[in-house]
Amino acid sequence: MSLIGVFDSGVGGLSILDEALRQLPQHDYIYLADSANAPYGEKSSDWIAKRSLSLCKHLADAGCDAIVVACNTATAEAIKQIRSEVKVPVIGVEPGIKPAAMQSQNGIVGVLATEATLKSDKFNALLATLPSDCLFIKQAGAGLVPLIEAGKADSEETLELLAKHLVPIQDAGSDTLVLGCTHYPFLRKAIRKLLGDSITLIDTSEAVVRQLKRQLESLDTAGSSGKSTREHGSVSFISSKDDATLLKMARDLMHSDLEAHEVSSSLLGATR
Ligand code: DGL
Repeated sequence: MSLIGVFDSGVGGLSILDEALRQLPQHDYIYLADSANAPYGEKSSDWIAKRSLSLCKHLADAGCDAIVVACNTATAEAIKQIRSEVKVPVIGVEPGIKPAAMQSQNGIVGVLATEATLKSDKFNALLATLPSDCLFIKQAGAGLVPLIEAGKADSEETLELLAKHLVPIQDAGSDTLVLGCTHYPFLRKAIRKLLGDSITLIDTSEAVVRQLKRQLESLDTAGSSGKSTREHGSVSFISSKDDATLLKMARDLMHSDLEAHEVSSSLLGATR
């Protein structure tokens, strides 16, 4: 049994935690949401890198055996530094442009992500490795994260803003859309409403959790993580803003049966 830290600027990483609880329910989790500072996507690279590193160090100090940076923006800006300074396995999240290019039938792929992710060297380096016959329509989802953080994922206001962001993607005839921010899987219903059922939505949470599983298996092989026969571990929610709201949103947004786990919540103290 391992203790796994999952970190995001806010509630977006709950989409990864949800999948982790589905595939690996027996472990213990700390979910750390920096909601006091969300959105990260419109902040400077330096700020994002410093803050993400400090929060991942906090998770490592809390005894996490592995950390998932469940945020495309923090991964793009900080994963290299986090990996060099935090001495536990660190798993990141990247927009699934590679699987999207492989699955697209017409070679036109929309990518909805934060401005920081789309501008980052890491994202552009990944893009450069892909075949040039695939056209990527990149769109920053400005304003969407604050609406999701405010519990308005299914509101008219969100639908209207999303509709504007999706125009270029739709006009180009994209048959595939990459959800390049962990908050965006919570817009699935709204996206389907606007784009219909035929567009393929690419969300990498399953692959990210498979990667986490492989890392945990290698820790087990090294004998550093004990075996357990229990079915469900604990989930501790930590917020830099309001832990009661985080817990409520986790219950609203996630599909996992949180009641099967031992659940607690607290406010992030010293590192703010
Ligand atoms: N959920 C995040 C991501 O995957 C960050 C969104 C934000 O804070 O702007 O990029």
